[in-house]
Amino acid sequence: MKKKKIGVLFGGISTEHDVSVVSGTSVIKHMDKTKYEVFPIYLSKQGEWYEYQKEISKVEILPIGDTVEPIQKIENPIAYLQELDAVFPVLHGKGGEDGTIQGILEWIGVPYVGCGVLSSSLGMDKAYTKMVIERAQIQQAKYLYFQKRKNGFAQIHPNFEETIHNLEEICGKVEENLGYPVFVKPSNSGSSIGITKAANNEELQEAIKNACQYDTKLVIEENIDGLEVECAVLGNKEVKASSVGKILPAEEFYTFDAKYKNAQSKLEIPATLPQGIEEQIRKMAIRAFRAVDGKGLARVDFFVRKSDSQIILNEINTMPGFTSISMYPKLWEQMGLSYPELIDTLLLLSLEEKEGERCN
Ligand SMILES: Nc1ncnc2c1ncn2[C@@H]1O[C@H](COP(=O)(O)OP(=O)(O)O)[C@@H](O)[C@H]1O
Ligand SMILES: [Mg+2]
Repeated sequence: MKKKKIGVLFGGISTEHDVSVVSGTSVIKHMDKTKYEVFPIYLSKQGEWYEYQKEISKVEILPIGDTVEPIQKIENPIAYLQELDAVFPVLHGKGGEDGTIQGILEWIGVPYVGCGVLSSSLGMDKAYTKMVIERAQIQQAKYLYFQKRKNGFAQIHPNFEETIHNLEEICGKVEENLGYPVFVKPSNSGSSIGITKAANNEELQEAIKNACQYDTKLVIEENIDGLEVECAVLGNKEVKASSVGKILPAEEFYTFDAKYKNAQSKLEIPATLPQGIEEQIRKMAIRAFRAVDGKGLARVDFFVRKSDSQIILNEINTMPGFTSISMYPKLWEQMGLSYPELIDTLLLLSLEEKEGERCN
């Protein structure tokens, strides 16, 4: 049988560019070359498209921050993509995980791995994920939602009324509604970039200013004192959930460095959890995935609160870290699906979608 031509997109314009290079080269290295002809496509931080010209059999996983070379400019990315049977966008964050690349691929009719336009953009935006998850009746951290404006900050109330405040007033609202400590997050972020835990007024002001460098939308959340656990979901219409993994971060919380640089951070797979919790998490992960209209894959992250064992959803990642030692593939490995088999399954799911049902 003729080999399917698969484009692997990695790099990208987001702050998670370097993380994507690690995930992308890992996918290229492990994809079954007897079945697939791999076309590695590197997107630079500036948004240029390149062919990664390293001999496929010699591709190794690039460590974080490494330069991708040799590369050759792709003059017409759309024409290049149109020659492929499917694309695996191993891109994290803005311009890759947020529905924009998915939109291009939809438009030109090339199947791709993972969530579509709606679920990708929803999952990328923490404020909007919260609104949909609320509808799914899944518990989340208490939060406030603000937008940075020219004249201060708009607090976006649950009914979308807005009130304008200065920084001092915002801090007052946070203190009154959430108490310290709080997590300040750019609504569109990933890999913990721009996220700060603030324990007092001064830290809160700094945290807000810092988050504003990454996005004009901010989400500020109460602190959840709990275990941090993650569940992998896989499928289109028939969705499966993996066992649950626990994060043991080497720092106060799971920061960028704790995720990618500190070898002391550990994953516990499967997680040791109180009786019955794992099953509840798996069910909630599937519901959350359906709530955002997910397709293909997602990693759904939760806290299990220490005080009362309540399960609290943190976020949905529609393109989770994807190196062979990342949580998502590790969870499936534990379920008996090896990393190359997982890539294979995802590609089959993307192709199945193209042949999928239509209501006519
Ligand atoms: N409300 C919260 N309470 C406690 N810890 C939190 C909370 N929100 C985030 N964290 C910590 O910050 C990390 C990054 O936050 P997260 O919302 O997952 O952002 P990202 O999309 O960048 O991964 C989490 O993995 C967790 O360690
Ligand atoms: Mg996270």
